[in-house]
Amino acid sequence: MCGIVAYIGPRDAYPILISGLRRLEYRGYDSAGVCLLSEDLNIYKCKGKVSDLEEYVVGKNLSGNVGMAHTRWATHGEPNYINAHPHFSQNKTLAIIHNGIIENYAVLRSELINRGYKFASETDTEVLVHLIEDIISNENVAVEEAVRIALNQVIGAYAIVIIAREFPDKIIAARKGSPMVIGVGEGEFFVASDATPIVEYTNNVVYLNDEEIAIIERDHDLRIKTIRNQSQTPYIQKLELSLSEIEKGGFDHFMLKEIYEQPRSIYDSMRGRIHVAEGIVSLGGIKDYEQKIINAKRIIITACGTSWHAGLVGEYLIEDLARIPVEVEYSSEFRYRNPVLYEDDVVLAISQSGETADTLAAIDLAKSKGATVLGICNVVGSSIARATHAGVYTHAGPEIGVASTKAFTAQVAVLTLIGLLLAQKKGTLPKSEFVKLLFELDAIPAKVERILKLNDKIKAIAHIYKDVKNSLYLGRGYNFPVALEGALKLKEISYIHAEGYPAAEMKHGPIALIDELMPVVFIATRRGIYDKVITNIEEVKARKGKIIAIITEGDESVKRLADHYIEIPDSEEMLIPLLATVPLQMLSYHIAVMRNCNVDQPRNLAKSVTVE
Ligand code: AGP
Ligand code: GLU
Repeated sequence: MCGIVAYIGPRDAYPILISGLRRLEYRGYDSAGVCLLSEDLNIYKCKGKVSDLEEYVVGKNLSGNVGMAHTRWATHGEPNYINAHPHFSQNKTLAIIHNGIIENYAVLRSELINRGYKFASETDTEVLVHLIEDIISNENVAVEEAVRIALNQVIGAYAIVIIAREFPDKIIAARKGSPMVIGVGEGEFFVASDATPIVEYTNNVVYLNDEEIAIIERDHDLRIKTIRNQSQTPYIQKLELSLSEIEKGGFDHFMLKEIYEQPRSIYDSMRGRIHVAEGIVSLGGIKDYEQKIINAKRIIITACGTSWHAGLVGEYLIEDLARIPVEVEYSSEFRYRNPVLYEDDVVLAISQSGETADTLAAIDLAKSKGATVLGICNVVGSSIARATHAGVYTHAGPEIGVASTKAFTAQVAVLTLIGLLLAQKKGTLPKSEFVKLLFELDAIPAKVERILKLNDKIKAIAHIYKDVKNSLYLGRGYNFPVALEGALKLKEISYIHAEGYPAAEMKHGPIALIDELMPVVFIATRRGIYDKVITNIEEVKARKGKIIAIITEGDESVKRLADHYIEIPDSEEMLIPLLATVPLQMLSYHIAVMRNCNVDQPRNLAKSVTVE
């Protein structure tokens, strides 16, 4: 969802900006543009990809060591040249780029039209830069003061950068509800939607907070003030990110790299948190809230997409282990349905990016009702990480592929740790059971390593089913959320319609879909209500459905029933999602590649949905 990059310093800005946009491509976008300030403000933009922009600027004046660039994910006005960012003010002395939505843009726009302003685009963004121009001319104030006054009139979300032609030694950045990171280099500054365009230049970063404005001047210290004019001291942090982590590392796609990183990322999500020999789990991030969670009458998990699937696994885990009632909510529903919330509720917000607008709004709602809100995020310093009272980072490392893989298994690992911690504190699990689970959990990374070695077999199955139009994913118990996640992986990167269902639910409708053209993926591991799943497989077989089964190593009975099977190592029932999800990720990946889909940046999708 939209990418912002800006630079001011001694170097040529254009190469830094364009490589920064390429690092942000994974976020999803429909057009791109760049603004450079040399003698004048030069804006070049186009619909399409960053590569189209690079072609478009050939031969143009790309000089200037102040500049900004943008990849747009359209919300107001279709993707085209005119609506692409950056946008000029009417007098062309200002330029702006923006991520987010200005909800009251229509009112502001009509007021500005009444004051004689004309608009070239249909965007909400152009309204803001005209408003800033209007304030500068009417109130004769500095550009940063005009930005501050303007933002007090804005309702909505923004991450903006403004460059003024008359002030070539300054850029203004501000944010509310959309992500922004400032890189502080040696005599140079960077602004970006996340750290990936910054990490190769500096690891000193400042995470701007909501309603803060950064006045960034060449050869000056960074100044920050709130839109209410209170000065803030910039808090410079060290970035825990390396360049190699955001490169493909020899893999064809980021998604494949991240699938293969899972032994490491699952290990990292547990590192320093499980002490097998001592038989204890510790989660420092929520230590101060342990009592609050233990005494909670209810835990509400709120998330979107894959993170919501992880939340479903979390529901089964926490109820199983700690006997605390859990409800799982889609953030987009939760934020608007006027839910009943009590002060002794604990809300768990799960988000890989930590920037999902709906989940951020759900957090705000829960906090407004007095609930305790904890986060499970993968991006340090992200908006959700900072909006929650406390939380647990998944430490999966940057996830660039739009389709979430290692973040999901890391989220499930962290939810398992939370369930175990609560069981440990509440004494709801015999010590022997507890220690056995710790040993099994500790063995998961090596078991995932073994599953990754099945790549060729999974690729062969993918080749058979790459041209199907529909598919069903069925699982029961802990494997029901795995079925949902497997279906989401397939549909979001291969564009094949896929549905996940509790296996027994098939009889209540979906079985009507079964015929010889319908591949049905069963997660049929030999744990839980395994016999019932066998029955469900037979029901599909009786109707000529094609069966792809994820089974426990050595399970001969399902082998006889399935058209294809993928054997995974056994483990405790509640840990199977950490294993069974991996072959489904690989199956989807290979089908999407064989269909020549854009695996890392699937059509219409964004890595982080920072708008509603
Ligand atoms: C999953 O593969 C998708 N990328 C999407 O469903 C994603 O999980 C969802 O948008 C939530 O994102 P978050 O975890 O960053 O909040
Ligand atoms: N609302 C702005 C537009 O539609 C910005 C969208 C974005 O975040 O890319 O142009």
